[in-house]
Amino acid sequence: MPSLNWIGKEKIINHDKEVPFRLLKKNKSLSLGISDNLIVEGDNLEALKALMPYYIGKVKCIYIDPPYNTGNENWRYNDNVNSPKIKQWIGKVVGGEGEDLTRHDKWLCMMYPRLKLLRDLLREDGVIFISIDDNEHCDLKFLMEEIFGVDSWEIMIWKKVGDGDAGAGRMKITHRFRNEHEYIYVGYKNKEKVRFNKVKSIPDFKNTYGNPDNDPRGSYKAGNMSKTTEKSLAHGKNFYTVVSPSGKSFTRQWHFDKEEFDLLNKDGRIYWGKSGDAVPSIKIFIKEEREVVPVSIIEGKGSATSANKFLENLFEGRVFENSKPVELIKYLLSLYSESNDIILDSFAGSGTTGHAVLELNKEDNGNRQFVLIELEPDIAQKVTSERIRKISKELGGNFEYCTLGNKLFNPEGSIDEEISFTDLAKYIYFTETQTNLEKKQIIGNFIGNFQGNDFYLFFKEKGKNMLTKSFLQKVEKNTNTKIVYADFCTISEEVLSSHQIIFKQIPYEIKVY
Ligand SMILES: C[S@@+](CC[C@H](N)C(=O)[O-])C[C@H]1O[C@@H](n2cnc3c(N)ncnc32)[C@H](O)[C@@H]1O
Repeated sequence: MPSLNWIGKEKIINHDKEVPFRLLKKNKSLSLGISDNLIVEGDNLEALKALMPYYIGKVKCIYIDPPYNTGNENWRYNDNVNSPKIKQWIGKVVGGEGEDLTRHDKWLCMMYPRLKLLRDLLREDGVIFISIDDNEHCDLKFLMEEIFGVDSWEIMIWKKVGDGDAGAGRMKITHRFRNEHEYIYVGYKNKEKVRFNKVKSIPDFKNTYGNPDNDPRGSYKAGNMSKTTEKSLAHGKNFYTVVSPSGKSFTRQWHFDKEEFDLLNKDGRIYWGKSGDAVPSIKIFIKEEREVVPVSIIEGKGSATSANKFLENLFEGRVFENSKPVELIKYLLSLYSESNDIILDSFAGSGTTGHAVLELNKEDNGNRQFVLIELEPDIAQKVTSERIRKISKELGGNFEYCTLGNKLFNPEGSIDEEISFTDLAKYIYFTETQTNLEKKQIIGNFIGNFQGNDFYLFFKEKGKNMLTKSFLQKVEKNTNTKIVYADFCTISEEVLSSHQIIFKQIPYEIKVY
């Protein structure tokens, strides 16, 4: 299988594991009420890591629209991996070699660890949608194969130019065709578990429709109902005999089960030919909406121009270039998300994904939550949040604004002073189990159970968190393995092992995720 190599790959391949774990700090004055919706200001690499103890394996849909790496640095947001922050980060991680990186190497270095973290945040049946254009779409294909698996992605085309858009008809100097599309990669954590919602479609049959039996529902196209011919030996699912109005029988494998066939027939939705003795076909009425499997080409879901116009109207001026139209993101999310799902966008820009979530919730009375991450404080505060503030007047919905707080471990390797018992409990439980801890699970020092292991944490006063014999009385009859985190332990090895207790010393034995 061909794979992709680039300068800096070895340095980056496990970098997601080296990113320090930081806390999320809520900022009340930048928030809008109390909410599970989050806007996080900061580099998504650190922000995604900070979200892990809360969201690992919980996110249903991710939409990202990362910098396309067009080489254009003059926009209001940086479309290049040469943004000072990313440049500094690459310099630190990749080191001296970083000097020789082409912009494609840099883009790959930037994307690789972030995509790995995004995959980990997805639910087993979760899906990621990634917008991209010609500049990096081939590199992205290899990243998808490496991170999600060879058969775990598909590609869609979005027609980004709407009819009558000013951009229609204009040609870029870099292209010989008028470029009217972008790509949307769709990545699956486990493709077997994914079924997209069907979409409504009005058939476009051009000249192939008619109404030979004067059906009052109007003209229709006669669609094929059988999977096999009479002579086929297939005796699989839906293999049965039907009898036409004139008494002729047809035995074969059909696209419908017998019950559905009979219902369609009763409702006059089956055409048996002029004389009532032809192989049956299904009537697909021209005026009737049908539910069909979504197709890989997306048209009529807003355009680059309509997205810009929307923002210009909302903000009464140009505050952000190259946002996506809310119709597009709403469409993608409607293919897969249900009420209560968590939706994440780690390159949030103007906050279109948050907007789409609030619109969908309004339409179906849903309760989806959004988590948006934006690197640039100016954009996060003045555009992302401000957009949600403005549109929430009509659509409802609050959000909490967070920045990245202290690192869990300070430079001396001890736990930061600001870390609370719950923060540390969540982190430890997460590193031990790769699952999230519900706050209500915590009872005193007991922080939770997972697959026959009980976890305990002693963490009140620095240097005084002691595992002593009094703990033995509490757990006397409990036969589970007990993993206990504390600063010190005064119980002997033999007694610990006779009570199935494993002592782990803080901070040295706290795993780094
Ligand atoms: C193409 S824009 C996204 C536009 C968005 N889809 C919309 O509709 O407005 C990419 C955004 O990602 C942000 N960004 C770039 N690198 C980032 C990083 N490492 N962490 C978080 N955000 C980042 C940029 O500042 C920019 O706002």
